[in-house]
Amino acid sequence: MRVLGIESSCDESGVAIFDTVRGLLAHRLYSQIAMHRDYGGVVPELASRDHVRRIVPLIRDTLAAADCELTDLDGVAYTAGPGLAGALLVGAGIARGLAYTLEIPAVGVHHLEGHLLSPLLSREPPAFPFVALLVSGGHTQLMQVAGVGRYELLGETLDDAAGEAFDKTAQLLGLGYPGGPAISRLAQEGDTARYALPRPMLGSGDLNFSFSGLKTAVATLRRKHPEDAARADIAAAFQAAMCDILTAKSLDALRRTASRRLVVAGGVGANRQLRAALVAGCETLGAQVFFPEPELCTDNGAMIAYAGALRLREGENIAGFDVRPRWELDSLAAPRG
Ligand code: KG4
Ligand code: ZN
Repeated sequence: MRVLGIESSCDESGVAIFDTVRGLLAHRLYSQIAMHRDYGGVVPELASRDHVRRIVPLIRDTLAAADCELTDLDGVAYTAGPGLAGALLVGAGIARGLAYTLEIPAVGVHHLEGHLLSPLLSREPPAFPFVALLVSGGHTQLMQVAGVGRYELLGETLDDAAGEAFDKTAQLLGLGYPGGPAISRLAQEGDTARYALPRPMLGSGDLNFSFSGLKTAVATLRRKHPEDAARADIAAAFQAAMCDILTAKSLDALRRTASRRLVVAGGVGANRQLRAALVAGCETLGAQVFFPEPELCTDNGAMIAYAGALRLREGENIAGFDVRPRWELDSLAAPRG
């Protein structure tokens, strides 16, 4: 089965073709980051309009790269939520239109399910069950994953998402958008030990997170040290605090669920310091940690094509056209055959 995947929930247009026998045939991405940079964040209406411009040419490119025709497709998957309503509607409209014309099924995929299953596209995929740490621009969750569509929420952020914390801290330090990669680069030149920042919720006795206090602490620190020379040290201190918190909670989730496998997904999972901390932490527990290929950490069409293929293969084909800007991941069910 050959499935075209379309991602358009935020500021990247992603298109991919996944074949259930041959694997990922091709994927293409157009990032709108440069367009939104002047505004310091994503402007929803500009995002929707740009998806309209980019997705069809991307589909052509991806088909050519996969050496496929439209008529070789057996199904279409698109991100149905969560995300920006207008941006989601563009992908959904194109996907549903294509599927209708080609007389093939279409399926709306949960964006976080895409992220969560993306490590299964790597060369050494994890087996079920596993604990997943989902860290993106909009979400921070620990999930117990028993299989496709079998997700149990273990803990989540009570305020800002991890990616949002990186983005807001980057803004406080006068760095560009998106903040994660910028902080990570600057932190390399910084001294982690120069400033002490809090680790909120570390001792909370549950698996929830809170990052807004950390952001306030960064703002206070920055006011005390407005000089340019302090920026790298603040970035390093912030990144160290984030890594400590995310690692400690992930290890706690492994212990509580007696799991031996941790899967990391979402844009913040691209952070090298975090990867190193999770690898070291898991080693102490005798657990294994799995990451998506770096290019599949942030938003992409491949994860949507893949998650969609798993659902379409089971015969899932929900008619109708809808997007869900807000959508709880643990409300999903296993594929309906
Ligand atoms: O998963 P993603 O691409 O989009 C969402 O679904 O939100 O995640 C984007 C988030 C942004 O907040 C960005 O700053 C963060 O992931 N991010 C990073 C890194 N690369 C992207 N955060 C820390 N370190 C990175 N290297
Ligand atoms: Zn995402």
